[in-house]
Amino acid sequence: MKRIGVLTGGGDAAGMNPAVRAVVRTAWSHGAEVIGIRQGWRGLAEGSFEKMTPGSVSGIIDKGGTILRTFRYPEFATPEGTEPVAKTLQKMKLDGLVVIGGDGSFRGATKLQKEFGLPCVGVPATIDNDIPGTDMSIGFDTALNIAIDAVDKIRDTATSHGRIFVIEVMGREYGLLAAQTAIASGAEEVLLPEIPYNLDEVCRRITAGYDRGKHHAIIIVAEGAGKASYVTFEIKERLQRDVRMAVLGHIQRGGSPTGYDRILASRLGNQAVELLVAGQSGVMVGVVANKYKTSPLEKKGRMPATAVLRDARLQELLA
Ligand code: F6P
Repeated sequence: MKRIGVLTGGGDAAGMNPAVRAVVRTAWSHGAEVIGIRQGWRGLAEGSFEKMTPGSVSGIIDKGGTILRTFRYPEFATPEGTEPVAKTLQKMKLDGLVVIGGDGSFRGATKLQKEFGLPCVGVPATIDNDIPGTDMSIGFDTALNIAIDAVDKIRDTATSHGRIFVIEVMGREYGLLAAQTAIASGAEEVLLPEIPYNLDEVCRRITAGYDRGKHHAIIIVAEGAGKASYVTFEIKERLQRDVRMAVLGHIQRGGSPTGYDRILASRLGNQAVELLVAGQSGVMVGVVANKYKTSPLEKKGRMPATAVLRDARLQELLA
């Protein structure tokens, strides 16, 4: 393996930089050159790439975002979008590619491997942690800690004013980030896409909480379970109390990666290159029950709701 490419795709996740760093340094330890592709699949289509050395990844382990930058590039799924790729690949002369991202990035990697014969290995990185084949994806732990910190702060003001707060947490269609934010921040309620909810019941429990002497109510809403604005309106209507909302949004994606994410990213970036060097491809590398595990990149499908339902059982700890 003489030349390995690396790209980051989809939404950025804290820990992508440590993963890129691990890929570059592991590849160099095997005597391979590294090409960094800028802005994910867009860079491949538009021929935007750079040679990377261990020096180009020094001082980035603590940095959020991705030095390679990223881009949502749905065009890559179309024949016109991939047409220019052949030219870029010819210039780059890659023997393998590490794709750091989520399911959209892995669909691109599968296409690339099938249509252009380039061996690809995937590294799961998304704050949603919704990729089958790994217990944790890079970025989830950082996003969770940011959300917990935000809720802790909002609770101070909620208690001071006796207010109800509806806080929307990211996660696309998957409720794990919201479920764990609620548990770890001691929220009163959590609304998840995986579990049907009844706002009358939610209001009844909140009223009971105030009757018991509580001075606030925090309701975490997973973005896949409905808009915070809708929940806020409905609760205000029913309870006629002071209800405010906060949408955490992209604040959860940025910032310095936690220790957990730095280690996970370093391990997975390293393993991805080891797999390519050992002649394996068409797989994603994850960690399951503390062991490296590979799973096919193709047809990863949706994450089963099991993990969310497991944590949703802890809802009895809320309120
Ligand atoms: O997949 C990560 C994620 O942050 C989701 O939680 C969210 O639904 C989506 O990306 C937002 O995407 P964008 O930044 O493109 O608006």
